[in-house]
Formats: sequence, C-alpha cells, structure tokens
Amino acid sequence: MRPYLGSFLVGLGLLGGCGGAADDGDDVTDEITYFQHVKPLVDAKCVGCHSDTGIAPFSLTTYDELDEMAGVALINVENKTMPPWPPNPDCNDYFSDRSMTDAQIDLFKAWVDGGRVMGDPTAEAAPLITEQTRMSRVDVTLAMPTAYTPQTTTDNPDDYRCFVVPWTEATTKYVTGFRALPGNPKVVHHVIAFLAAPGEVATYNQLDADEAGAGYTCFGGTGGPSRTWLGAWAPGSLGSDMPTNTGLRVEAGSAIVLQVHYNVLTAGVQPDLTRVELKLDDTVDKVAIIQPWTNPNWLDSQVMHIPAGAADVMHSFEYDASRLIGGPFTIWSAGLHMHTLGANAKASIVRADGSNECLMQIDDWNFHWQGNYGLRQPPVFNPGDKLRVECHFDNSPSNQPIIGGQPRVPTDVYWGEGTTDEMCLGTFYLTPL
Ligand code: HEC
Repeated sequence: MRPYLGSFLVGLGLLGGCGGAADDGDDVTDEITYFQHVKPLVDAKCVGCHSDTGIAPFSLTTYDELDEMAGVALINVENKTMPPWPPNPDCNDYFSDRSMTDAQIDLFKAWVDGGRVMGDPTAEAAPLITEQTRMSRVDVTLAMPTAYTPQTTTDNPDDYRCFVVPWTEATTKYVTGFRALPGNPKVVHHVIAFLAAPGEVATYNQLDADEAGAGYTCFGGTGGPSRTWLGAWAPGSLGSDMPTNTGLRVEAGSAIVLQVHYNVLTAGVQPDLTRVELKLDDTVDKVAIIQPWTNPNWLDSQVMHIPAGAADVMHSFEYDASRLIGGPFTIWSAGLHMHTLGANAKASIVRADGSNECLMQIDDWNFHWQGNYGLRQPPVFNPGDKLRVECHFDNSPSNQPIIGGQPRVPTDVYWGEGTTDEMCLGTFYLTPL
C-alpha cells in the first residue's frame, strides 16, 4: 500500500479528474510509470541538453537510456545539480526556469524507488508545457575566419585572441537574439562578441594585419576603442532571444570582434573554430545595451585581494549607474561572473531609500554554469539608486582548482583575466527609459 502516492499525484494534476478516493492501492493509477508520468517530466527538464544534439555527454530520450542512468540521475535530481539552475529562487523570478519543483523531484524519486516501471507505451501522457529556452530563429552565422590553435606555454596556459569578422548587412539592424557556439568547449573559457562601429573597423583590421596567423592577441579587452558588447558566452550559457521588441543596434559597415579566451590547463593544446549565431530585426521599440558592472579600481591594481588560505573573502561595489547611462533605465536580465574560487555572489539594486532589491543571487557558485537570467518583472533603476555586486571567494585548501591533477597550493589571488586569477562582474541587459 502506498496511499500517499495517489494524493500527491492529484496535487500535481497528473491524475486529472480520477482522484484518489476509490484508490485501494492496487489500482494501476497507483503506479508511477515511465510513459504515464516520468517521460513528460524528463522530456521537459532534461532532454533539451541530454539528447544527441544537446550539450550533455549522454542522452535521456528513451526508457532504456533513463533506466541505465536512473541511480545517478536521482542523486543529481535530489541534490539539485540537475537540471542545472544556479539562481536562488527567493531572489527574483526568471524566464525559462529549468529547475524542478519539490513535487516533481518526489515523483522522480518514487519512480526510481518503485522499480522504474515502464507503463504502457501506447498511452503516453501529454507533454508538459515548457517555455522556449533557445533562440527562436537564426538569421546570420558569423564564424572565425579559420581554425586557430591556442599559443600557450607551461607557465601561461591562457591565450586571448581576437578575430575580426566582417559585418555584411547593408542596412541598420538590431540583434534580437544571440548564441555563441564554441568550436571546442574543452579549450574555450569564454567568448565575448564586441561591436566595432564603422569608424573603428580600420583600427581592428590593422591590429589583425600586424600579427601573424589568424586574429591577434588581445588581453583584457579588444586592444582597440570598442567597449560595446553584443553578447557573451561562458560555460553553461545556452543563448536566447532578447526581451521582446528590444535589441542591440548595428550599423552597416561595422565589424564584430570575437574575443575568445583559451585555456589549455585541463585539455591540452587543441584547435578551435568558434561561431556566433544571431537573430536580426529591422526595427525594435527600445534600443538596448549590455552593461558590464564592476569596480574600475579592481582592474588595474591589486585592490581585489583574496589572501591565500582565506575561506570567505568578500568584495563588493555599488554606484549610481544612471550617471553612466545618462538617466533612468530598465534592467531586463542579469548575470554574474567569477572564476573558480567563487563561492557565492549577488547583484542587487540599493534603492535611494536604502532598501535592497535582489536581481540575481547564486548561493553555490559553479564555474561551469554561468548565464544571464531574464527577469519576469524588469525593474526600473532611478537616479539616486545604486547598482551593487557582491562576490564571496573561498581560497582555502579545500576549494582550489586542479592543476596537473593536483589541487593548487593556496596562493594570494587578485583581479585578472586568467583562469586562476579572479573576477567579480555583473552583466546587465538594459534599455534607457
Ligand atoms: C542545461 C542543460 C542540462 C539539463 C537541462 C540537464 N542536464 Fe544533466 N548534464 C548536463 C551536462 C552538460 C552534464 C555533464 C557535465 C556536468 O556534469 O555538469 C550533465 C550531467 C548529468 C549527469 C551525470 C552527472 C555525474 O555525476 O556524472 C546526470 C546523471 C544528469 N546530467 C542527469 C540529468 C537529469 C536527470 C536531468 C533532468 C532532470 C538533467 N540532467 C538536465 C546538462 C544538462
């Protein structure tokens, strides 16, 4: 007898109108089966990544595939490492939330513990309705001109390379969707697509021409005048449409500078050919910008000190961002970026009255799952408010990156672009009011 099953299934709405009243415990509706209950859940919450074309290393599209992985899948589902969804749910509400509710986790557990019953394949339950999580359309694909093999040394496993990609649209366009596809994710640490305005293109072509091979070295930024981002990729970012009727403006005659940060620490030297897919529109209601947010003092001095061995080091920065934007603005999405010593982080608005409005909070930082999270209720930032980022780092022996198979001996760490340096950065997609 498993009387509780009937009632929580009704709670989930999975049993529809049949209810649990007449259920004596031997009825088939008592049984949680793959085809009647678990498949719709796994299709909605796992298969986006766990399929032949997805980013996960194995597929979960059939009974046999799930059956084989069921034990380890349950561990990951119960400790909430799968599906990956780092934001703290109490901070804000986001689009395309991948996480599973407690009831869904209980259902999955009951199926695994109950012997992984297959059920009737001819009476498969209806799919769960999920939000679109990918870009809805690809209008242009921009690729590095040729494959590139990172140039690194044993002392320096990082290579920052910029590739100038011509922009061939003949009229002004708005980028309304962005997705980067690292050619070789084993060596690509991040990708930032910068926009070079028409008047800046010659500078970038010269930088490219001055150095042998594809692209040129560009530690830090683009090595030229552009500070404008079109989009970025870090491990875990999947790409998406921009918020409805907003987009990033690109003039005819521009160029895209793709900054690819290679790190060969774990995988060794391997070639890469990274691409970026864009959705384009001719008009939008609101022109957006992507605003990286950090303390400028951290960048060029050893101010952001994370002492060797310290288990909780906090660095924070807050400033009235409307001075930079030139007035009030709407924040549509928020993301956070740290490297491997990151422990937890938060981005928020400190209102003029002192109250704090959480935009994005990650309690258990995972370097491999970074992204930008679209806010269901985009807040307006007013002059007098402050935009705040707060990062906590753990530089104790138990939280060190593995280098050459061994955890690194804790050492003093500062701001830097290298994988073993640290950063504390918020990124915000915003439109001026
Ligand atoms: C957003 C993409 C994504 C989604 C959604 C997702 N996974 Fe994964 N999963 C991955 C990736 C990538 C890996 C391999 C790297 C890693 O472990 O992070 C992985 C690894 C795993 C592993 C192996 C972990 C280990 O300990 O070796 C299991 C089991 C798993 N996923 C189960 C699931 C289940 C079950 C779901 C749905 C409830 C799910 N995943 C949803 C991307 C995803």
